[in-house]
Amino acid sequence: MNPLLTVENLTKTYASPGGMFGRGATARVVSGVSFSLARGDTFALVGESGSGKTTIGRMLLRLVEPDAGIIRFNGIDLRALTPTEMRHMRRRIQIIFQDPYGSLDPRVRIGEAIAEPIRLHRLRPRDAVRERVIELLALVGLSESHADRFPHEFSGGQRQRIAIARALAVEPDLIVCDEPVSALDLSIQAQVLNLLAELRERLGVTYVFISHDMAVVRHLASHVGVLYAGRLVETGPAETIFGDPRHPYTRMLLAATPSPVPNASRERQVIAGEPPSPFAPLDHCRFASRCGHVIDACLAAEPPLTDVAPAPRRAACLRSATLEPYKALADSEALMSEAYRHRLGLLRQARAAGQIR
Ligand SMILES: Nc1ncnc2c1ncn2[C@@H]1O[C@H](COP(=O)(O)OP(=O)(O)OP(=O)(O)O)[C@@H](O)[C@H]1O
Ligand code: SF4
Ligand SMILES: [Mg+2]
Repeated sequence: MNPLLTVENLTKTYASPGGMFGRGATARVVSGVSFSLARGDTFALVGESGSGKTTIGRMLLRLVEPDAGIIRFNGIDLRALTPTEMRHMRRRIQIIFQDPYGSLDPRVRIGEAIAEPIRLHRLRPRDAVRERVIELLALVGLSESHADRFPHEFSGGQRQRIAIARALAVEPDLIVCDEPVSALDLSIQAQVLNLLAELRERLGVTYVFISHDMAVVRHLASHVGVLYAGRLVETGPAETIFGDPRHPYTRMLLAATPSPVPNASRERQVIAGEPPSPFAPLDHCRFASRCGHVIDACLAAEPPLTDVAPAPRRAACLRSATLEPYKALADSEALMSEAYRHRLGLLRQARAAGQIR
């Protein structure tokens, strides 16, 4: 199947405004990022704060201009489009942010906020717009009565549902979700994740799902890209990445995820150390300063992303094939915290209903 989105060697640098590294120094915040996804995939981009996730997400819509690289969407080279052509293209690619309040005008009623893009792109005759708004509200679990309320009258979870309805209003092929549940309570997180999964099944939407939290992407992602200091260090199908991670950083991220078992030895481990400065040139493995497996060869050159069985997984680690077997978390339900059990229950319901795989 032809990929819906192909990204090749995406790169972004920022000039330093001055300070310690001096005016004119450049920080390389995204380096040679490549991935592709097919229609219906959910590609999770995971990594710590500052690893470049939002920059990549925004580059996909050209809200941030890449320095180099190719973004091909449905076979179209997005970087070759004029600003006007790109504006039209944004109907096909939408973005949802962590804080939906920021993207909703507090003075505009919700129904109007959802109707606006429908009118702008002339997606329905004028007299059918209201009906479409009600349909979209229903799709995200809200009712007609919500249409006449203002953003401040909604909870965080409801506001995120509204942001999703607004994104869906233009019938996009791809939605970039940038930390869409990070600001929400755990049980509300599960509901919004289930909604995204349900919409994927019903409407065939494709997601690039950005998160710093492996637990959040675990049940939604079909493919995962692990980003470290601006570069992908492991990519592959979700079950491979979660079941048998082959890059020490992926393992570290998983260890930093809250365990379902309170007080278990794998309970959230802090990720020690700092990523390398984006200003300094790098001639060795970027994870070396934090890696417990480092050998001399790791300091001689930066390892490229290479195939590590089972295909199509790739990892940028010299020792990926010889790391000890990974011990996955034990799902001992009797010991789980109530919040985790609740979340797992919701996910199971969604899976039983065929809403997620
Ligand atoms: N406009 C900008 N000018 C200069 N530096 C920037 C700019 N935008 C982002 N950066 C830098 O690029 C790096 C990556 O930022 P980005 O926001 O993409 O990270 P992130 O992975 O989304 O982090 P978080 O999880 O905190 O949202 C950071 O070091 C950030 O300071
Ligand atoms: S290449 Fe070496 S330093 Fe880098 S992650 Fe692998 S073992 Fe660690
Ligand atoms: Mg971000």
